[in-house]
Formats: sequence, C-alpha cells, structure tokens
Amino acid sequence: MNTKDNLPTEQDMANEPPDVVATVKGHKRLERNITLLAVATFVVVAIGGIVEIAPLFWIDNTIEEVEGMRPYTPLEQAGRNIYVREGCYSCHSQMVRPFRDEVERYGHYSLAAESMYDHPFQWGSKRTGPDLARVGGRYSDEWHVQHFVDPQAVVPESIMPSYAFLLDTDLKISDPAAMLVALSRVGVPYSDRDIDQAEADLLLQANPDLDDGDFLQRYSEAEIRDFDGQPDRLTEMDALIAYLQMLGTLIDFESAVAQEELAQEKGR
Ligand code: HEC
Repeated sequence: MNTKDNLPTEQDMANEPPDVVATVKGHKRLERNITLLAVATFVVVAIGGIVEIAPLFWIDNTIEEVEGMRPYTPLEQAGRNIYVREGCYSCHSQMVRPFRDEVERYGHYSLAAESMYDHPFQWGSKRTGPDLARVGGRYSDEWHVQHFVDPQAVVPESIMPSYAFLLDTDLKISDPAAMLVALSRVGVPYSDRDIDQAEADLLLQANPDLDDGDFLQRYSEAEIRDFDGQPDRLTEMDALIAYLQMLGTLIDFESAVAQEELAQEKGR
C-alpha cells in the first residue's frame, strides 16, 4: 500500500507518459477523499453483487422442459420423507453424472428437470451404496421388502443396515393435505383438487380395492398396488417402496435423447 513516504514524487513522474501521470493523479485523489473512495467502493462491490445475484432471476430458464415430469403422489412423497428421515442420502445419491461409467451402470444421466419437485434434493457423490436415481422398476416389490428387512439375505456382502421396523410401522401422516400445501408454497404445482384429495389419494395408491377416481389423470404413470405384501395394512414400507419404484421412471429417455440430438443438429 502507498504511504505518504513512498508516493511517487513529481520528479519520479517526470519521465512517465501523460496518461500514466493522469491515472496516478486521479488515483491519488480517490485515495485521499474518503467520500469518493466510499462511493467508488460501493459501485465496485455492487457490480460484483449484481453479477452473482442477477442470474438467480433467470434460474427457471436453466431447467429444460421435459415431458412426463409430475409432482410426487402423496404416498410417494410420504416415502420420500421417510427416505430423508432415515438418512438414506448418507450412503446413496440420486444423481447420475454424465460420465460414461455412470451412464452405462445407471442409465441416462440426470436432467435438472428430474429433481425440479424435490425439496430437499438428493444430489451428491457420496456413494457407499449405488446411486438410486433410476432404481424404479429395477427390482420387484418383494425384493425391496426382503432387502430392507435383511439386506445381507439378498446381497451377502452388503453393509446396508436393516430397516425391518418399516414393515411394522403404520404410516402416520397427520395431515397429508398440509404436506402438499407446504410443497406448493415452494413451487410444486399441486392443484386444489390434489390438495383436497390428498388423504384419499394416499390411501388408495396402496389399496387397489379402493376407487381410484381421477387419481391416474392427475398423477400419470402412478402405480396402484399393495407394495409391502401386507394388504391389510398401510405401513412406512408401502410408502418407501412406492417412492423407490417410481424413481427415474417418469421421463421417456428415448424421446429426451431424441430431443437432445435434434438440439445438437440445430447447433444449440
Ligand atoms: C451404511 C450405508 C447405507 C445406508 C444408510 C443405506 N444404504 Fe442402501 N445400500 C447400501 C449398500 C452398500 C448397497 C449395495 C448392496 C446392497 O444391495 O445391499 C445398498 C443398496 C441399496 C438398494 C439397491 C440398489 C441397487 O441398485 O442395487 C436400495 C434400493 C437401497 N440401498 C435403498 C436404501 C434406502 C431407501 C435407505 C434408507 C432407508 C438405504 N438404502 C440406506 C448402503 C446403505
């Protein structure tokens, strides 16, 4: 930093070109006038702030529209809440990265749109267990039940802990409508009808004997069945498996890939 002693003197400046002299003089004035310095500092910091903040206003544009995405059904969302509660994310990510080894193992890499209704999202790279973004439909419900009850029974070398208690724990959601209202406040597009029907939807998805009304029109591709093998009970296991079985199944990747190729041809 310049102090009074090492500031360039008139003599030092004598041989400098005129524009350098002007800059140094201007800077001298700036440094010595506290008001001017404060204003200039504010302007510089404001530019930095705008550069960081402004893109957030357009962040929605960065999520490409993809056909097939819909909000979670109340039962799937309840399963997701159990997933978060149990800390499954400490061993499993839900984000297939665009690397060849991952794409070959798990399927098409994750698109931003796939987690647009996730609160909180489950991205990450912590993979003590496999990525689960595309686990839906890969195993049967029975496999999942067995795996949760005793992971080593199906994968002997597994270090996953047992979650057998989920099978004995009734699913208790005090107010399913409130769960959807909370999500809609942060931007998940649940309709008034979805919210009114939340409790009925929660029950009917795990019980094929109930009338499903317009459930499938509101939640396309949702699966209605008894997930945990105990038709007379609605347990946390039902919810968790309903959630896992839909992961990665909503988007038709054939068409997403086709869209991408088309986009590349257009040079976007
Ligand atoms: C201590 C780490 C750990 C935790 C916590 C954990 N898992 Fe796992 N999980 C694993 C490992 C390791 C595997 C791979 C071996 C196996 O299949 O058991 C696995 C496998 C799985 C699979 C099979 C995935 C596949 O593609 O084969 C599913 C589904 C799964 N876990 C779900 C869950 C859920 C849901 C939770 C939370 C309730 C959870 N896991 C908690 C470690 C963990």
